Amino acid sequence: MKILVTGGTGYIGSHTVVELQKKGFDVIIVDALFNSRIEVLDSIEKITGIRPEFESFDLANQSLTDDFFARHNDIKGIIHFAAHKAVGESVEQPIKYYRNNLDSLMNILEAMDKYKVPNLVFSSSCTVYGQPDAEHLPVSETAPIKKAESPYGNTKQIAEEIIFESINAYKGLNAIALRYFNPVGAHDSALIGELPLGVPNNLMPYITQTGYGIRECLKVFGGDYPTHDGTAIRDYIHIMDLAKAHVVAVERMVNEKMKKSFEIFNLGTGTGYSVLDVIKSFEKVSGVKLNYEIVGRRAGDIEKVWADPTFSNNELGWKAERHLDEMTLSAWNWEKAYRSN
Ligand code: UFG
Repeated sequence: MKILVTGGTGYIGSHTVVELQKKGFDVIIVDALFNSRIEVLDSIEKITGIRPEFESFDLANQSLTDDFFARHNDIKGIIHFAAHKAVGESVEQPIKYYRNNLDSLMNILEAMDKYKVPNLVFSSSCTVYGQPDAEHLPVSETAPIKKAESPYGNTKQIAEEIIFESINAYKGLNAIALRYFNPVGAHDSALIGELPLGVPNNLMPYITQTGYGIRECLKVFGGDYPTHDGTAIRDYIHIMDLAKAHVVAVERMVNEKMKKSFEIFNLGTGTGYSVLDVIKSFEKVSGVKLNYEIVGRRAGDIEKVWADPTFSNNELGWKAERHLDEMTLSAWNWEKAYRSN
């Protein structure tokens, strides 16, 4: 059974392709390589023994997208990862984000209707919940959607609405939106992992690059939050647990196990860790003393958020299994392997 993975050479995409292939799915990747590298295909092949089919073009281009689906009439489902994802950049260049993230989705939905591709898994984010009120922590799927903090976050909210309305309008379409908490870590082989271009925005690659000596000092944003150690809390989830959830979602769709034509699931562990917890875990597993300093809060950051994964656990039969130490260790192994090549 063939699955299209858009953004399949990216961070979450590449790990998901590995899991799909392991489960016997045929994969075709479409990726414009805006923020990823073609060599990832070699790594996927090394891990799985299978080189996925690959095409490089911009899904925000309607005629190229239509042409692609006209040529591939054997696709049974789509996992749509391809999107810009830098929160800060989206504030500076909002139109770039709306155009890319929404045009690509709309082109895919139109093609799904026209070429009768029934199943879509969409890459959403816990950013839709903003800072949940105390009574909504941990956050379940029924927690209120908050006004987005950034154009990036807004594209995820609008995208979920576009999918919902399209499914109502185009009969025969199904979708699952997966709202990720904070994906970190890498495949055990250390052949694929997170590869941020330039200075990382996210915590884990900043930690591993600082540990490796590429960055001088990690700035911990905010030491005065009302948390156990004053630093902000997130629900970090191992990338391979996240990848597996995508395969489960695809299987649920193709095996016609969905209860509604549009379902939404939180993907987190259910446990929140502070920035200092993550640093301590890194120091423990790597044996490296991390150079860091606590500075002021980062604008737009929320104080604490973690998932209530009960609905995902029960409905999908999926549970995140890997502990924080496995996340930091795999991220560290990946950093070392990548730098030594
Ligand atoms: N942090 C630091 N120093 C850094 C980087 C991050 O202290 O150099 C802190 C942040 O302040 C935050 C925590 O580490 O408290 C996690 O920050 P990340 O940037 O790794 O992750 P965010 O929770 O800010 O962002 C993630 C995704 C976004 C998404 C957002 C909300 O990267 O795509 O969650 O869902 F929009």
